[in-house]
Amino acid sequence: MSDVYLNGEFMPLEAARIPVLDRGFIFGDGVYEVVPVYGRRPLAWDRHWQRLEHSLAGIRLANPLTRAAADALIMRLIEEAETEDQSLYLQITRGVAPRDHGFPVLVNPTVLALSKPLSMPPASWLESGVNAVTHTDDRWYHCDLKTTALLANVLLRQQALDRGAVECLLLREGQVTEGAASNVVLVLDGVLVTPPRNHLMLAGITLALVLELAQRLGISCAERPISDAELRRAQEIWLTSSTREMLPVTCLDGHVVGNGLPGPVGKRLLAAYQELK
Ligand code: PDD
Repeated sequence: MSDVYLNGEFMPLEAARIPVLDRGFIFGDGVYEVVPVYGRRPLAWDRHWQRLEHSLAGIRLANPLTRAAADALIMRLIEEAETEDQSLYLQITRGVAPRDHGFPVLVNPTVLALSKPLSMPPASWLESGVNAVTHTDDRWYHCDLKTTALLANVLLRQQALDRGAVECLLLREGQVTEGAASNVVLVLDGVLVTPPRNHLMLAGITLALVLELAQRLGISCAERPISDAELRRAQEIWLTSSTREMLPVTCLDGHVVGNGLPGPVGKRLLAAYQELK
């Protein structure tokens, strides 16, 4: 059984090796996608592929994969994986080269893909909601690119864990951007509100699906800047991501959100999302 695809070959995870001079390791010079797989079918793979191309263009790296090659390799990993539901990881780096910040003249990208079982959050998180904390968004200005340079996100997520929370909601110049590894949607006076999808946040695939479901269900939506004050008076706060789907935040910085339970608008959307997947 092959768990991993690395540069044209399928192999067990233990056999996969990356040279120390890979720019993904040295500089975080690469991009990635995480695709949820349900019943051995990738959800919204087309959109993930398009976002991968956007990220590659953003770091000026030519895509070494054709769409057909990518389809074939992910389908083989998905077929050979142990579980029906999976989290598929695909990463492309600028490859191995002598350490120098400038791009190498000859680029030979590293392509890595692997599948692991999709581990859903505990049921209690959905029943009662989770704690989140806020922090200054101290990342760079290309958050629309899904790059492997994730140290800022790692530190922000750890801030949340250290404070007994599951996610850190980020505020840049007083406005909400997203979570350390998720997007955020609020219910404010009956309207589903999300921050503008620009260079300050990752345009989440789950978020896009949720917004489309909201439109189908006739829930009014607005994509607009959200202030710190609005975040704190939201009736509902939900996190969206490929691996955690939708999670309700019921406690923010130690204060109860809404009535302290997962709210009705998000619950309707989560039910619709379960149908969709
Ligand atoms: N991260 N914003 C950030 C910074 C993220 O890292 C993620 C997901 C999202 C949600 O995007 P999507 O709905 O397309 O998964 C938003 C993945 C799950 C990860 O890094 O593991």
